[in-house]
Amino acid sequence: MNDVLSEFTFPRTGLTVRNRTVLAALTNKQSHDDGVLSDEEHHWLTLRSKGGFGIVTTAAANVTEHGRGWEGELGVWSDHQLPGLTRLASELSVHGAVSLAQLFHGGMRAPIELTGVQPVSASENTDSSMKGVTSRELTHTEIESIIISFGDAAVRCEEAGFSGIELHGAHSYLISQFLGMKTNRRNDQWGGDLLGRSMLLKHIIQNVRARTSENFVVGVRLSPTIRDLGIELHETLQIAQWCVEWGLDFIHVSCWDVYQTKTDQNGQEMSLTRWFSQHLNGRIPIITTGKIWDQEDVKFAFDEGADLVGVGRAGIAHYDWPRQLEGEHSSPTKPPFSVEHLKKAGLSDTFVTYMSRWDGFVLP
Ligand SMILES: Cc1cc2nc3c(=O)[nH]c(=O)nc-3n(C[C@H](O)[C@H](O)[C@H](O)COP(=O)(O)O)c2cc1C
Repeated sequence: MNDVLSEFTFPRTGLTVRNRTVLAALTNKQSHDDGVLSDEEHHWLTLRSKGGFGIVTTAAANVTEHGRGWEGELGVWSDHQLPGLTRLASELSVHGAVSLAQLFHGGMRAPIELTGVQPVSASENTDSSMKGVTSRELTHTEIESIIISFGDAAVRCEEAGFSGIELHGAHSYLISQFLGMKTNRRNDQWGGDLLGRSMLLKHIIQNVRARTSENFVVGVRLSPTIRDLGIELHETLQIAQWCVEWGLDFIHVSCWDVYQTKTDQNGQEMSLTRWFSQHLNGRIPIITTGKIWDQEDVKFAFDEGADLVGVGRAGIAHYDWPRQLEGEHSSPTKPPFSVEHLKKAGLSDTFVTYMSRWDGFVLP
């Protein structure tokens, strides 16, 4: 079994991470309107590097101006964002963390109120959060342009000094809208069977790989299943296998709850992490995330075959969560948290307000 505080080395690049803890991507609404990183966001993330996280991931950051999903979102779509990204990458590194930027496009979930344009997707779709606004099907030329934008953003992140990027292929955003059989009803090269629906992801990976250096770490975050989009576990396992062939450095499984199990058509039941670890059989490192809080959860995740453990809420509440795992019986405190506690953990008023929307996280 892995020890959470032991080093981890990415096999392809040889990059060593000081321990096996990952701050997962966490939207925090703190960026400026033009996507430039704010001092508050810089502070919240760099404090997690000072607090001992092995890997620190930025919030989902949009690769095109119109791919923006919400207010206060970090942008990686233009060079005017480069100075903030450079300052962040440099300070994350000074304090010892490996830095990843999470690259994303909202697709059908990029609200017209925010972008001023009709949302786009693999097909015409109406997402339940979009108040009846239907997305438009992307043309072939537009798809090619989005692929280049992901590549441009990755180049920008490497120039800024990030160790790598995580492609956001989870949680119903553009990449997963292409993967899902319900949201992708195309019959050209970007749709059809599972391989066709995976072409956007494949071409993004190829574009990023071709334009960044050998040592740049590139991974993907995937949701094992998304019912509304028509993404099934056996398909995501197949996509993960292809990702190995397409040269990725890690798969990040977004479980939301690592204890959740899934039964396949043959009646075999396993945790989501184990489905991936068994299927991939050590060919690519796995990060798993979802309700990991203490040593017991960490042990469970490693027993199920994870190489690294990701946290969202535990990392929001405890900037030094990795240090709190020292000692066998340590148990970082759980929600709800007072506003004062969260401010001491480096959250601004904006971020605290956002966290009050998460059930039971902030004390009323
Ligand atoms: C406030 C908040 C913001 C989030 N933002 C993102 C995001 O930008 N990108 C992403 O992939 N996941 C995002 N997630 C999901 C987390 O990365 C994580 O997978 C989820 O919170 C489950 O882990 P946890 O139980 O340790 O919190 C977010 C979660 C929370 C609570």
